[in-house]
Amino acid sequence: MNIVVLTGAGISQESGLSTFRGGGGLWEDHQVDDVSTAKALQKNPDLVYRFFDERRGALDAVEPNLAHMALSKLEWHWREGRKGSFLLITQNVDDLHERAGSAELIHMHGALKSALCPSCGARRPWDGPMVSRPNCSSCGRDWLRPDIVLFEEMPYQLGRIDKALKACSLFVSIGTSGAVYPACDFVRTAKSYAAKTLEINLEASEVSADFDEVRRGYAGALVPEWVEGMIGDLDGGPF
Ligand code: OAD
Repeated sequence: MNIVVLTGAGISQESGLSTFRGGGGLWEDHQVDDVSTAKALQKNPDLVYRFFDERRGALDAVEPNLAHMALSKLEWHWREGRKGSFLLITQNVDDLHERAGSAELIHMHGALKSALCPSCGARRPWDGPMVSRPNCSSCGRDWLRPDIVLFEEMPYQLGRIDKALKACSLFVSIGTSGAVYPACDFVRTAKSYAAKTLEINLEASEVSADFDEVRRGYAGALVPEWVEGMIGDLDGGPF
């Protein structure tokens, strides 16, 4: 069975990272147009760089939670048991999935711990602040910028994602409001290619009605429960 899992900010909420929408959301203190659009980066780069520097800095204080760990465990069992393909797509820019051990992982909205050269397209691992706007060491032509997909920009690896959605038999969405295109359409793509679909989310999302099954509650409890159901009583593994 081929599995595709999509995650959003809700999966990292129990690790202590704010979600975007709703009470206490990340954008309550900021206008989206000021910090998360391609125009903002042109108009007020210092503010945009500082916003992402702060968020990168905040990663040091948080750890993967039980939901991140469970997804990594499921991937391990799927690979070792040759049960089919497993792809994790995250809209999150934190590094909690990789720290939990997930390997087949696409950061479709970029990553805080990565820097991008707008001229040559080089991407490199990045830690610490970027507000001093370091030059690209590959081409020397431009400043490095946060490797984050801003509004008005194209998410990463859409071709690979589309292929995986069309080839999967189970699509699971965890901790996302379904408010942002194109991720909000993934459930419909998977479904139209005959996949079963499951949503795990604290509240109703904008696309809940499109799922075959919906489980409401905290990812930290529901994701491990779902994963245990998937792997049954298989023994072994590093967990
Ligand atoms: P949102 O903040 O829009 O939605 C988070 C969802 O997680 C909500 O539906 C909550 O009900 C749910 N939630 C919160 N805590 C949860 C928990 N502990 N367990 C389970 N569910 C929980 O975040 P995203 O959907 O990820 O894009 O937002 C999508 C995109 O919007 C982001 O990637 C970002 C933003 O624009 C870019 O920056 C390009």
